[in-house]
Amino acid sequence: MDAVTPDTTRPFERIGVVGLGTMGAGIAEIFARNGYEVVGIEINDAGLERGRQHIAHSTGRAVSRGKLTEEEQAELIGRITFTTDLQDAKDCQFVMEAVIEQLPVKQEVIGRLGAIVAPDAILATNTSSLSVTEISTATPNPGRVVGVHFFNPAPVQALVEVVRTVVTEPEVLDKVSQLLRSLGKTPIVCGDKAGFIANTLLFGYLNHAVSMYEGKYASREDIDAAMRFGCGYPMGPLALLDLIGLDTAYEILDTMYKQGRDRLHAPAPILKQYVTAGLLGRKSGRGFYTYE
Ligand code: CAA
Repeated sequence: MDAVTPDTTRPFERIGVVGLGTMGAGIAEIFARNGYEVVGIEINDAGLERGRQHIAHSTGRAVSRGKLTEEEQAELIGRITFTTDLQDAKDCQFVMEAVIEQLPVKQEVIGRLGAIVAPDAILATNTSSLSVTEISTATPNPGRVVGVHFFNPAPVQALVEVVRTVVTEPEVLDKVSQLLRSLGKTPIVCGDKAGFIANTLLFGYLNHAVSMYEGKYASREDIDAAMRFGCGYPMGPLALLDLIGLDTAYEILDTMYKQGRDRLHAPAPILKQYVTAGLLGRKSGRGFYTYE
């Protein structure tokens, strides 16, 4: 895949994002940062407030680094309508769901959206490892459903995987790729298999690092230092797992393993223990490392 040619063509103007957790808030931010009108939808006021704070914090960081003025920050946030009513997505031409990584929940959201948006609107799921095909069957129009998998942190990582099912219309793939390029992202297209391209390659490695730590073979700092300073990775594997969220990482590994991938993806037992104990990584303040 060659480097992306900047494309400023905008196929849509109004974008919906359902679920404003770590990924959804980052996705809403990147659309608003690029001038799109965004409808950000959460299930309740507490979820909305968390999403709003996430975006305020992330854009505040850009202000403190001199990348954004306070006025631009206010304009960016002003382009996002925060709501708990899914019906507010009705005029959106493209709606992304980024709700919890559970098939019935994602199917319910996509199914309800299918009844709200125009028939030619595109519905996208940010799933990391669930079947896009199964999610798409919740709507009467599965040909308009596509996987759009952003990476964490969404405002920073350039890659987005565009996942086609056997019925996704080619025009949908073209428009979504164009939309992503208008955000400065690099879209790559792949088929609908758990893990897609990047997570299939990445999670075997991350899981191996957890096993190494669990077996007390080396300290967390030394495992992470090996990959940062020996291989040039921006973060070590245990720090990256804390960024991804240990619950999310566990779900991804478990799904990939159950779908018949090799033993590399059988989640290391300590991962489940950490999740059960509430050690979820950065978002809970503690995972492999402790955060302020
Ligand atoms: N939200 C928004 N912006 C962020 C951010 C966040 N959470 N974290 C960092 N940034 C921005 C900073 O503001 C900074 O922006 P500018 O260059 O414009 O000033 C830039 O990113 C670099 O940040 P820092 O200097 O603070 O730190 P860094 O250089 O160490 O980079 C990092 C931090 C971007 C997280 C980098 O360490 C990195 O790329 N790590 C690897 C991340 C990775 O592998 N992600 C994929 C995970 S797998 C996944 O997401 C798939 C899945 O399904 C789970």
